[in-house]
Amino acid sequence: MEDYLERIYKLIDEKGYARVSDIAEGLEVHPSSVTKMIQKLDKDHYLIYERYRGLVLTSKGKKMGKRLVDRHHLLESFLRVIGVQEENIYKDVEGIEHHLSWDSITCLEALVQYLNKDPDRVNELMNIRKELESE
Ligand code: CO
Repeated sequence: MEDYLERIYKLIDEKGYARVSDIAEGLEVHPSSVTKMIQKLDKDHYLIYERYRGLVLTSKGKKMGKRLVDRHHLLESFLRVIGVQEENIYKDVEGIEHHLSWDSITCLEALVQYLNKDPDRVNELMNIRKELESE
């Protein structure tokens, strides 16, 4: 469910609307799964789905969607700052984002801020990483 809401929020943010086909494509799922999830999100008051107007997020849906997108970005920043290769970042974030508590997310956010505060901290970390690689 979080994947769908995250996707819908992003589509509306970027294009102004979210179509079932775009959601399905982004998540690599069948359109019928999207329709099913939209009905569930509607029932839980995250969005309102009308046949002709399409899909509108409620304030609850917007708030949650933003939180999920922010979390995705934070995890990307985290993997990037600890030196994960760019080509692995998106897929790894998709793999871990739904498995962490908000407590862990907040702690990672603090860590990202800590590392970004002083370039020496990041350099030191990269040196340790290089040592590991050459072992
Ligand atoms: Co994501």
